[in-house]
Amino acid sequence: MGASFFFLGKGGVGKSTCSALTAVGLARRGLDVLLVSMDPAHNQCDIFGTALSDRPKRVTSGLRVVEVDQDRWIRRYLAGIEERIRESYRYLTSFNLEGYFRILKHSPGLEEHALLLAYRSILERHRNADALVFDMAPTALSLRFFALPSLSLVWTSHLAALRREILEKREIVTRVRFPGREVETDRIMIRLDESMGEYEELRKAFEDGSRTRITLVMNPDRLSLSESRRIAERLEETGIGIERLLVNRVTAGSKSAVERIRRELSGPELVTVPMSREPLIGIERLEAFLEREAFPLPRI
Ligand SMILES: Nc1ncnc2c1ncn2[C@@H]1O[C@H](COP(=O)(O)OP(=O)(O)OP(=O)(O)O)[C@@H](O)[C@H]1O
Ligand SMILES: [Mg+2]
Repeated sequence: MGASFFFLGKGGVGKSTCSALTAVGLARRGLDVLLVSMDPAHNQCDIFGTALSDRPKRVTSGLRVVEVDQDRWIRRYLAGIEERIRESYRYLTSFNLEGYFRILKHSPGLEEHALLLAYRSILERHRNADALVFDMAPTALSLRFFALPSLSLVWTSHLAALRREILEKREIVTRVRFPGREVETDRIMIRLDESMGEYEELRKAFEDGSRTRITLVMNPDRLSLSESRRIAERLEETGIGIERLLVNRVTAGSKSAVERIRRELSGPELVTVPMSREPLIGIERLEAFLEREAFPLPRI
């Protein structure tokens, strides 16, 4: 399975442009690449000058582009929860499930759950691709996306412990009242175990620097540096490392800013991308830029 290359950073620093350049560059090296727009305000259609959707579209040899339809994944996520709740609580006819589902639609965290489901589905469907390149959502949502597996593990393991206590009590009562009767397997416990397994897989994948390769995009200015520092700290708290810092839109006057970034964000490899005089729109311009400049492609 190919690695996942994530491009994240502050709004407007060049995530979409640099992820597109990377995807085109890797495809030109003969790799089979899928570029995925995870930003609900999709930009890749403007960069490639073609309509895109949640079905991968080939834009050039070796490169397909797809836009994650966040709303569709939210609907799927909610439908999945509804189905499981109906299944598990079939006997609770007096419980107002409809009312509960109405509230669920407004629960916080739906976007990151949707993105995580979309991510899992892309990993499954495109496991034969050589590289998956992700143009990420705004910072706050992206950080919640990366933190979701480990946070969910804490939450589901507490739920599982509670459920286990209930089941132990139920088992004692069953034994006393109906000696010899087999204790039923508990659907909720099975589902909790499944969820924990899925989150654990994703947590491991995110913490594995050979599978999850993060490029933090920034510009040579102070605001961008402050936000990048916060992103790096938050990811580190979650156990996720940054592979590269990509300073985009570098000019002759950026030397001291780049030096400061190198000093203050030491650790990840630092690469730079020059300011382009021409707008980086359209596959021909992206290819010309890649040829003209030594654009830093990640090692594969
Ligand atoms: N190296 C560069 N040289 C010149 N222009 C650039 C460069 N990188 C990006 N741009 C331009 O800067 C603007 C913002 O870039 P882009 O849309 O890639 O940023 P973004 O981080 O994806 O933004 P958003 O947070 O809105 O999704 C675009 O007009 C893009 O063409
Ligand atoms: Mg963008």
